[in-house]
Amino acid sequence: MTSIAHLTDIHLPNDPALRFGEFSLKRFMGYMNWHRSRKLMHQFAVLGLLQDDISQHDVDHIFVSGDLVNLGLEAEFVAGAEWLAALGTPGDVSFVPGNHDYYGSGRAFMRGTAFTQFMMSDEAGLALGGDTGPELPFVRVIDGDVAVIGLNSGMPTPLLKAYGEISSQQLKRLRDILDACRAADLYRCVVVHHPPLPGLTRRSRAMRNDDAVMKLLEEHGAELVLYGHNHRQQHTRLKTVHGVCHVVGTPSASVARGGHYDPGRYNLFNISGGPGGWMTELAGRGLSLQHDRVSDLGTISLNSADDYDLKDQLVGTPQ
Ligand SMILES: [Fe+2]
Ligand SMILES: [Fe+2]
Repeated sequence: MTSIAHLTDIHLPNDPALRFGEFSLKRFMGYMNWHRSRKLMHQFAVLGLLQDDISQHDVDHIFVSGDLVNLGLEAEFVAGAEWLAALGTPGDVSFVPGNHDYYGSGRAFMRGTAFTQFMMSDEAGLALGGDTGPELPFVRVIDGDVAVIGLNSGMPTPLLKAYGEISSQQLKRLRDILDACRAADLYRCVVVHHPPLPGLTRRSRAMRNDDAVMKLLEEHGAELVLYGHNHRQQHTRLKTVHGVCHVVGTPSASVARGGHYDPGRYNLFNISGGPGGWMTELAGRGLSLQHDRVSDLGTISLNSADDYDLKDQLVGTPQ
């Protein structure tokens, strides 16, 4: 069995200071928003509880899918790199950026060597067509049977927008990687920050070419797609030429209990079986609505078509 932990939307609560040279209107609005509401929402204590819980499980790999920081400030990236390093070695931890990681300094961030080590293909992934450096997609093969494929949907956006996009170059490579992984009898787990299918959030904050991504997944297949961005637990099934692809959104890992969003949570995916008969178990771990401690939030099989009512998971309007 291979276990993958998915954490997302860390929004490191570092209380960033906005220096004169780093000023922009978008950052200023983000700064005000941080102090007005987000600062109370995202807490180190919640992150710490989840990290402790992960360390108590036999996890083979940890994937962090973006919004590591808030305003894209240099000091935040330094803290972000330290946080990722504390989570595990670059071989055990993967990362893709989100829209908040592209506030202003996104390109510099992508070039930072402290981050690229969490975004590089391993030897097996290179042979499957993964990229070698900060250009994505990267591919890592975990435990010999699960390929994790990291996509970059982050891009600079204007004021009040939080959309993303998968570049055409990445899409082309993703198509070939999905085919190569299937030919190599690997389980395919794609990870990206923005929801990869139409209808999962409003257009001003959606992946602009989610229709193209959905079509590619339908035509080439994947066993699992993980995303963040909505700060809510969501589950959608996508019919593909190779069977059902489960598309799962995980809430933020740092949100305190009692607010508008799902409280801090991570999802553990236990993968077993083999080609033609993969089995995936999703085990939710996090704060419940009643308690400030990490508990079992339920386990579901992602293989049966009848065991899960996805409408129950799509309540509320994602922000
Ligand atoms: Fe976020
Ligand atoms: Fe986001």
